[in-house]
Amino acid sequence: MAAQTQTIQVPNDAELMQAQADLWRHSLYYLTSMGLRCAVELGIPTTIHGLGGAATVPDLMAALSLPENKLPFFRRLMRVLATARVFASADGGETERFRLTPLSRILVDGVVADEHHSQRCFVLGTTSRHYVDAAFALSEWFKKDLASPVPSPFEDLHGARLFDESTPLLDPELDATVNEGLAAHDNLGIGTLFRECRDLFKGVRSLTDCCGRHGATARAIVKAYPHIKCTVLDLPRLVDHAPRDGVVNYVAGDAFQCTIPPAQAVMLKLVLHHLSDDDCVKILAQCKKAIPSRKEGGKLIVIDILVEPSLGPVMFEAQLMMDMLMMVNTRGRQRNENDWHDLFMTAGFSDYKIVKKLGARAVFEVYL
Ligand SMILES: C[S@@+](CC[C@H](N)C(=O)[O-])C[C@H]1O[C@@H](n2cnc3c(N)ncnc32)[C@H](O)[C@@H]1O
Repeated sequence: MAAQTQTIQVPNDAELMQAQADLWRHSLYYLTSMGLRCAVELGIPTTIHGLGGAATVPDLMAALSLPENKLPFFRRLMRVLATARVFASADGGETERFRLTPLSRILVDGVVADEHHSQRCFVLGTTSRHYVDAAFALSEWFKKDLASPVPSPFEDLHGARLFDESTPLLDPELDATVNEGLAAHDNLGIGTLFRECRDLFKGVRSLTDCCGRHGATARAIVKAYPHIKCTVLDLPRLVDHAPRDGVVNYVAGDAFQCTIPPAQAVMLKLVLHHLSDDDCVKILAQCKKAIPSRKEGGKLIVIDILVEPSLGPVMFEAQLMMDMLMMVNTRGRQRNENDWHDLFMTAGFSDYKIVKKLGARAVFEVYL
């Protein structure tokens, strides 16, 4: 350990006050996460939606059948969540009404509507005991000399990997929640993709969605572009439960080992950020074998997070949080453009372009 110096530069008065406020915020952000979890568990967004999109605290408490003496506490929870823009509030005081915001609208459950994918299970999964315990073990994990490939803190602590067959053995309820959360998370914004990237699927006659789960994205592509012949490749445990209605073809297999079904375009949507660089290169090299040259209209479509400080502090912080999420729970990471360039080139592709940046994500076309 470095020798300790006996002097320190003490912050000035203004810096000290700010430092203390920052210390409170950063030490206590978990209470925002748990407040959000509490809101989802109680069903507050769904209840406000049921009450017409805005409600006073007494109305909400009555609809949720909460004991009257919890009213002052509930008001404090709602105040924190409104400050975090989970809800919006109008007319402070006794008549204060809380409204849904875009964030709480995507937490409303039980609504069947195009492009609505309730993110309730994303919140429940990411704030679950298993995730939080893994984050709690971070400093111990850093100190351990673990052989490569280095397991994530989640894997090291729980002896199971997320999103594979070991998760249900660890906890079937966690497995169900994280899978539902992942599906909702990955399906969010498909309509935006079609609206913003009109040329992406233009001229594509066949497409393989590699690691495409039950085919929600592939089915949406076929709905928007009925001429595209879509195939979904995923593990047998997923494909065995996929709908057999002929809208898309399903192939069960391990993308690292099997032949990826050849197509004019192969897509990897929100797959690579779960994987280490080595595994990304392996899977990219597999995808490469499935597509024709650029001249023949072949391309790989990658849709994933593109880390960029220029997106502004809020979006950049969200991307870094997603990177920490990957570090604590998977072997993957979020990547900047240099990282993506290196992956594509190492896997043997010759060129790529960023078709569009969509919030925290980007759409890449990658060519042989
Ligand atoms: C993050 S999800 C993919 C999300 C999906 N592309 C989407 O946008 O909805 C990862 C998927 O990869 C699948 N997967 C994991 N390992 C795989 C492998 N070795 N071969 C094929 N699929 C795999 C999982 O079963 C899971 O469905």
